[in-house]
Amino acid sequence: MLTDELQKKLARQIDSKLLEKDRERKSEKDGFNKNKTLDEVFDKSTTMIVSGLKNSKIISYVNGAVGSGKESKTYWAVGPSGNDLALKIYLVATSNFKKRYPYLLGDPRFTKVRKGTRHLVELWAQKEFANLSQCYESGIPCAKPITIVRNVLVMDFVGKNGVPEPLLVETEVNYEDYENAITIIDDLYNKAKLVHADFSEYNIFKTEKGLVVFDFGSSVDTRHPNAAEFLERDIKNITKFFVKRGLTVTNPSDVIKRIMK
Ligand SMILES: Nc1ncnc2c1ncn2[C@@H]1O[C@H](COP(=O)(O)OP(=O)(O)OP(=O)(O)O)[C@@H](O)[C@H]1O
Ligand SMILES: [Mg+2]
Repeated sequence: MLTDELQKKLARQIDSKLLEKDRERKSEKDGFNKNKTLDEVFDKSTTMIVSGLKNSKIISYVNGAVGSGKESKTYWAVGPSGNDLALKIYLVATSNFKKRYPYLLGDPRFTKVRKGTRHLVELWAQKEFANLSQCYESGIPCAKPITIVRNVLVMDFVGKNGVPEPLLVETEVNYEDYENAITIIDDLYNKAKLVHADFSEYNIFKTEKGLVVFDFGSSVDTRHPNAAEFLERDIKNITKFFVKRGLTVTNPSDVIKRIMK
């Protein structure tokens, strides 16, 4: 049994520890909308990056999460002029990025791949940003890229009031959507010189103005040794989706031939 005196001393120690933790948490939250609770996905350096984005007036504050995969979380943020932004943050702590080596190695744009998870995650984020920029510059419908800082990618928000546009999978589809999707794959290959490599009904928004493609982390340069294989997989996957929805579409092998002509 503890004496009263000892118990009091312990209580005081715990109190001061808690206070210290609380202070740490508060300072870490800098750059975030104080009224929103954010999860503990942010390591110290990610928090610093978000503060940096705020200081350089790229964002004003971060609102809630809009999407969370295993390796990244996407947040709705607001810029200084009230513009909506999306912040895709690649998680450093929980990542299993090893299986992504095949999408990096062999891409002539990314020849210096060092070991270590943090580096790999950052390289992956840089790659997504480079892909998104190439796509945007080629006039393919996608979110406008804003900046990349280490593992944090900033782009325009596709949606309204913090609600992303519906995914293709969540909507009713027609033949025009199919044609749109194939045109995107074609333009990616022949204009942006990229293969998406994760093209699916889950990585396409359906908006009033047509389809908008996103999630370019896996995309590779057309010179990548597996580019043809990834292109074939993309076309087959999206064809399967439209066929499942009851549409009659072109044979994937004819589409592949036409695109690679
Ligand atoms: N530019 C954007 N504007 C609005 N919402 C976005 C934007 N980019 C991504 N999102 C939202 O975040 C979700 C996840 O994005 P993305 O597919 O790029 O990440 P991911 O790591 O592949 O995650 P997941 O495993 O959930 O697919 C999307 O389904 C979408 O709802
Ligand atoms: Mg995705």
